[in-house]
Amino acid sequence: MVLAPPILLSSVAAAQAVASEIHGLLCERNRQGLPTVLGLATGRTMIAVYDALIALLVREPRDLSRLVTFNLDEYLGLEAGDSRSFRAFMQAALFGPLAIPSERTHFPDAQLAQRHPELAGEAYTTLIAGHGGIDLQLLGIGRNGHIAFNEPGSLPHQATRVVDLEARTREDAAAEFGGLDRVPQRAITLGLLEILGARRLRLLAFGSSKAPALQRMFAGPKDSRCPASFLVDHPDLRVYADGEALGRVAR
Ligand code: GLP
Repeated sequence: MVLAPPILLSSVAAAQAVASEIHGLLCERNRQGLPTVLGLATGRTMIAVYDALIALLVREPRDLSRLVTFNLDEYLGLEAGDSRSFRAFMQAALFGPLAIPSERTHFPDAQLAQRHPELAGEAYTTLIAGHGGIDLQLLGIGRNGHIAFNEPGSLPHQATRVVDLEARTREDAAAEFGGLDRVPQRAITLGLLEILGARRLRLLAFGSSKAPALQRMFAGPKDSRCPASFLVDHPDLRVYADGEALGRVAR
C-alpha cells in the first residue's frame, strides 16, 4: 500500500475540509437511515474542526438524531464533571453547541477504570463494536508521536486500557491544570487496535512542535517509539498539516 503524502493546508482550511467531510458523511448515513459513528479527539488542534463543523451545521442543518460519538480518552483521578475532563472539553467545544444528548456521547469510564481497569477497557471496546465500529476517527498527535494516549511503547494490537502518561505529555497539559504536579499521572485510552479499526482516519497537526513527530511518522521506522508510525498501514488515512508541521517532512 502506498502511503498518501500529507495534505498541506492551514489549520483553518484543514478544519473546513474535515468538517465538510463529516457533514457529507452525516448526509449520506442519514439518507440510508443509518447512524453516523464518529470517533472524536480533544486538544487545541480539534477546536478549529469543531468550530467549523458547528458553523457548517448552522448554515446547512442536518438531522443529528442518529449521531453517536466515542471519544478517544479520559484522565483518571478527576471527579465526574471536573471542568478539566475531556468530557467537559467536548461539552463546551461541540456537544453543547450542537445539543447532542449525553446518552449518545461516549467516553471510556475513568471512574470504573480506577477500580477495575480491565473491565473499563473491555466495556468500551465492546460498546464501540456494538455500534458497528467507528466510521470516521479524528486524531491529533502528541509531540512524542502519541495517538490518543497511546504513548511510546504502545503496539498496534493493544486495545483500550489504562496507561501512565509520559512527562512530555503531562507538561503539555500543565497549563490547563495550573501546574505539572496537578496533571493526572494516568489515563484510559482507546488502543491502537480500535483506532486502526475505524473506517477512516483523519489526523491533523499544526505548528512546528509537531514537526518531529510527523517526520518520524512518515519517515519511519514503524515501531513503538512513535505510535503514530503504525497508522501508515491504514487503508484510508489522511493527514492534514500546515507548513510548520511539515517543516521536517521530506518533500
Ligand atoms: C492529548 C490527547 C491527544 C491529542 C494531543 C495533542 O494528548 N490525548 O488525543 O492528539 O493531546 O493535543 P493538541 O491538539 O492540544 O496539540
